Amino acid sequence: MMGPAVRTVGLTKEFERGRRTMWQRLRREPDRRDRFRAVDGIDLEVQAGEIFGVLGPNGAGKSTTLKMLATLLEPTSGEAEVLGIDVRRHPREVRAHLGAMLSGERSLYWKLTGRENLEYFAALYHVPPRETRARIDGALEEVHLSDRAEDYVERYSTGMRQRLALARALLPDPPLLILDEPTLGLDPQAARDLRERVRALRRQGRTVLLTTHYMEEADQLCDRIAIVDHGRVVALDTPSALKRGRRAQEAARLRVERIETEAVPATLEDVFLSLTGSALRE
Ligand SMILES: Nc1ncnc2c1ncn2[C@@H]1O[C@H](COP(=O)(O)OP(=O)(O)OP(=O)(O)O)[C@@H](O)[C@H]1O
Ligand SMILES: [Mg+2]
Repeated sequence: MMGPAVRTVGLTKEFERGRRTMWQRLRREPDRRDRFRAVDGIDLEVQAGEIFGVLGPNGAGKSTTLKMLATLLEPTSGEAEVLGIDVRRHPREVRAHLGAMLSGERSLYWKLTGRENLEYFAALYHVPPRETRARIDGALEEVHLSDRAEDYVERYSTGMRQRLALARALLPDPPLLILDEPTLGLDPQAARDLRERVRALRRQGRTVLLTTHYMEEADQLCDRIAIVDHGRVVALDTPSALKRGRRAQEAARLRVERIETEAVPATLEDVFLSLTGSALRE
């Protein structure tokens, strides 16, 4: 594939605060609600073959950004291309080439088995019928669920459901995966396992764009990270370059002064705190 896997220029999403009542709608009153920018002009270039992480506090606009890229939300303004395809002009084409695991969209059918779930979604995603069997077996293998494929999803653990959701995202055999907090709610072992699956995807030449709240995870897993706050990118670099940054060093020094030792290297958490202004936790 030529060019970046994801490219956005000035990507913006505005929402209205509060709700419009039925009464206001019936009377066709002008919409006077405040609009605010959940995503406020984001420029990103995710290179093919990298694991790119988006970090940021709650409400920073991470999920909204990912949803626009996955064509589940329409941008208010700005441009976004996924695999060279414009998300506004060709949303169907984008969906056909993309594997997504987004929050609130993780629903699986609990009364079906793991395999039945994948069969259902394969049909939904227009996987060619002749390839379905092999794709499903491959996806199950990929997430280490082959031996539990015939069990009902209601008997799965949280981690297994999460892995099945990843298998579902793999069904279109996508060159790009968009994963919103893929390790949310997983125990440390299951999270490690899922990170290993993500690394394996990169080894296969796929691109992964993910969000996380776990600094360690971003640090270990991502080739590059964008820190997002109030809908804007406030820093974008490799984890090590971010940690070498001046503000990160200052935050680290502050931490050092508190514990009265010398020269503790900056952690990604220092970078995050110095950029998003969240207070150091006691
Ligand atoms: N459909 C919607 N309508 C109105 N406001 C929304 C909608 N979706 C998100 N928002 C608002 O947009 C802002 C950004 O939300 P978003 O879910 O993108 O944040 P996030 O960075 O993913 O946060 P978190 O870390 O909690 O997942 C928040 O203020 C949120 O309340
Ligand atoms: Mg989110």
